[in-house]
Amino acid sequence: MLSAKAEQFTESVIREMTRLAMKHGAVNLSQGFPDFAAPAEIKEAARQAISDDINQYAITWGAKPLRDAIVEKFERTQGVRVDPEREITICCGSTEAMMSTMLAIINPGDEIVVFEPFYENYGPDAILSGATPRFVKLSPPDWTYDERELAAAFGPHTKAIILNTPNNPTGKVFTRAELEFIRDLCVRWNAYCITDEIYEHILYDGAEHISMARIGGMRDRTIVINGMSKTYSVTGWRVGWAIAPPEPTAAIRKVHDFLTVGAAAPLQQAGAIALKSPQSYYDKLATDYTVRRERLLKILTAAGFTVYKPFGAYYIMTDISGFGFPDDVAFAKVLVEKVGVAVVPGSSFYNDARDGANQVRFTFCKKETTLAAAEERLSRLPEHLGSR
Ligand SMILES: Cc1ncc(COP(=O)(O)O)c(C=O)c1O
Repeated sequence: MLSAKAEQFTESVIREMTRLAMKHGAVNLSQGFPDFAAPAEIKEAARQAISDDINQYAITWGAKPLRDAIVEKFERTQGVRVDPEREITICCGSTEAMMSTMLAIINPGDEIVVFEPFYENYGPDAILSGATPRFVKLSPPDWTYDERELAAAFGPHTKAIILNTPNNPTGKVFTRAELEFIRDLCVRWNAYCITDEIYEHILYDGAEHISMARIGGMRDRTIVINGMSKTYSVTGWRVGWAIAPPEPTAAIRKVHDFLTVGAAAPLQQAGAIALKSPQSYYDKLATDYTVRRERLLKILTAAGFTVYKPFGAYYIMTDISGFGFPDDVAFAKVLVEKVGVAVVPGSSFYNDARDGANQVRFTFCKKETTLAAAEERLSRLPEHLGSR
């Protein structure tokens, strides 16, 4: 009685870990949502929009002030000018922007190239849209790809490559040279690049975010996915967008319209104000996350994890082979139930669970008291290892 597509994937492991964290009273370092307050000005802007009665449907592809603010910000930060009337679709989070994009461009038989480990949504996105994924490994410690492996994943059926930079879960920030190599393959095989840039402002150690749309020759074949969730610490607002050339935008807008009609109108209005934040806002965001990154790196190293230092986003991938567990799921279970810290098993980021069996992902988008509680609990990890 059920859809064969829906039967092919499970519930989100990441979001399941949050539910388990609540059940066991664990410190939640699994799902990537901040547990600290969102910026006061942005919350005030949302309150004001509701008071001003911006409470009815916005234009289905997005309120004009937010589309204009996206154009202005994309040009200021990436030097790429887009048309707010023909190249932007505001969606219910970047999650919907990605899904609407895939549904808008995929035909039966189409393939997509996906780097792995990958943000888990891309798997169900591929299944629901009917794309066949071709996975290409990013290898630790610096999460580089093998050029021959990537080139071999492209072919006459490739419709798009999905890129995520700065990357979840690895913290990798793709370099210009890497983007240019990918560009050459997209041009050669006439493929789109769908690039999820939701962590664009969360960068460390001088890493620079370069949008694929800015790489020579890619303006007309790049679909940028972005949103408010991470940059403005409002993951529950569900405001995201796709920036794409006019032809795919027309298709994305149609899919989006019949999926959701539109994102919350007052929150789009507040988004227009948020996107005009001064540079100091983004600098502080990165500085504050640098402090949290250092803190969690120290906690995890002291607790015996092998850590892969991230250069962007707010996650730390770790290697757990030293602890001697059968796999990542068994380890994550003990961690959440006995130690009281929730993490995401590495296997949820891979097509073949065995590839992530020695990894778990922690997030550090949490306040100091949360990180301190995790530190205290993780310091008792050896007791639980001994008693197994
Ligand atoms: C890479 C990546 N893309 C998209 C999302 C979801 O974004 P949104 O809240 O805009 O749907 C996340 C959330 O964790 C993410 O890590």
